[in-house]
Amino acid sequence: MSRVAYVNGRYVPHRDAQVHVEDRGYQFADAVYEVIGVVDGRFLDEEPHLDRLERSLKELRIAWPIARAALKLVLRETVRRNRVRNGLVYFQVSRGVARRDFGFPKRVRPSLVVTARATPPVSPDPGPGVAVITVPDIRWKRVDIKTTGLLGGALGKQKAREQGAYEAWQVDDAGMVTEGTSSNAWIVTADGELVTRPIGHEILAGITRQTVKKVAADLQLAVVERPFSVAEALAAREAFMTSATSFVTPIVKIDGKPVGAGKPGDVARRLRAEYLRAVSVAEPFA
Ligand code: PDD
Repeated sequence: MSRVAYVNGRYVPHRDAQVHVEDRGYQFADAVYEVIGVVDGRFLDEEPHLDRLERSLKELRIAWPIARAALKLVLRETVRRNRVRNGLVYFQVSRGVARRDFGFPKRVRPSLVVTARATPPVSPDPGPGVAVITVPDIRWKRVDIKTTGLLGGALGKQKAREQGAYEAWQVDDAGMVTEGTSSNAWIVTADGELVTRPIGHEILAGITRQTVKKVAADLQLAVVERPFSVAEALAAREAFMTSATSFVTPIVKIDGKPVGAGKPGDVARRLRAEYLRAVSVAEPFA
């Protein structure tokens, strides 16, 4: 079955889906995006993702390309046309096409691109867990805005892959973990406290992070929002990551050294299973 993309009002074969060479997303990373997971024909946390898109657009003074309700229809239609029951939907809004100039163009129409991709169905069982490496956080100072300026993260992810790891944890100048290249970072201390960095300009306010916080509260697990160091993570009982594409995934190794028992911990296991249960209550549409 051939894939279909939505580009500025039209559904086109994925291989023909194009934007202009002077699209500001292409030239300046002057664009924002979202990724929503699709599980059993349901969007995971759709409204919070749209709220975050609204915030990103506002921070950069980009207008909505189409109304929010219309965008929701386009997301569903793109998922339907690609026959995705499990996978993800990606949508990106750039400031639009204009003659190259650093300042904002006067009259410009935002570009909207939507794609959808199938992935294998997700299992509540986390499998063997994953390894992460640590890298200096070299990104710009407003990573709370979900822009397509992702080169810092891309370099970190590539280094992780070359070292046989799944993700890279980025570390600030004070030696504290900010977040993964495309995920939020968590540890479980010896006292059983869940620790994750507070929201600020240095991390993306992950939607999965937010939902996992609620799930943890329901399970009566204590969540403390504070920065933690790599040394503290290495001494922790467990570590895990959260994102729309990894859900809750246990981390069993950091820089080649085992975390806790070197296998997925009970807290991460429970959170993954409960998270998937919690997000599977929305009405299926696909
Ligand atoms: N990335 N931090 C960064 C830098 C991210 O890029 C992401 C998501 C997250 C987790 O956010 P959420 O729980 O809302 O997915 C944290 C997406 C999945 C991506 O770029 O593919």
